[in-house]
Amino acid sequence: MNQKAIGVFDSGIGGLTVYQALKDKMPDEKVVYLGDTARLPYGTKSAETIIRYSEENAAFLMGKKVKIIVIACNSSSSYALPHLQNKLDIPVIGVINPGAEAAVRGGAQKIGIIGTTATINSRAYEKTITRLKPGLKIVSRDCPLFVPLVEEGWLDHPVTRLVIGEYLLPLKNQGIEKLVLGCTHYPVLKKVISEVIGAGIELIDSAQTTTENVFSILTELDWLRNSGKRSADEFYATDFPERFQKIGEIFLKRKIVKVQAISF
Ligand code: DGL
Repeated sequence: MNQKAIGVFDSGIGGLTVYQALKDKMPDEKVVYLGDTARLPYGTKSAETIIRYSEENAAFLMGKKVKIIVIACNSSSSYALPHLQNKLDIPVIGVINPGAEAAVRGGAQKIGIIGTTATINSRAYEKTITRLKPGLKIVSRDCPLFVPLVEEGWLDHPVTRLVIGEYLLPLKNQGIEKLVLGCTHYPVLKKVISEVIGAGIELIDSAQTTTENVFSILTELDWLRNSGKRSADEFYATDFPERFQKIGEIFLKRKIVKVQAISF
């Protein structure tokens, strides 16, 4: 198992925030990343559709013989995590639990949650946070325009700032102390979000805590890669790999050597 790759999927490039956190923590691990760009966005789709897409993504990664699957998409984690955990014989982890764990750490009493419409409607964060720490006040709202702005590469653009203010200033006015970025696309907007709503609100990005979870699972199983020789990561997209590559490089602030097109 040690030499096998970590499989990661998202509906698009947003999951690269999780990919980067995994590589920062475990640079020797090989990652196989799948962005389902042909069917993005997931955040506006029904639970049934998100589950079906997620199963197909996971089957592709299983074909690559990965040792663990990370669902680097909140919309997919909200609905498909238990299905994939039941179905597959390798560990599968999502991003909701790690994000909720980070949200309840410390003494904040009022927490804001933002995500896609699917994630917010699932109430997955609210349920998990309430289970971890009953009694916390939670305000949530979907921010459907953030994903297209990010996919367009408008990471610091006047329109993006305007949209952030429109969605988030009402949450700020309700007195939230922390804001959970409940979509893997949002961390790339972190700096701009902070500038618009003020640095006093702590932004929670589940990429870090998700990575800690993956690291402890692989450590416990003794499945961490142990050869000194690194092998190149693999990137796949279900549509428009050139675009994935171009925007992905803006995300990662470095070159992506190759993105291969696949279809189901
Ligand atoms: N990255 C996805 C998530 O975390 C959002 C993008 C989409 O709607 O497909 O929910």
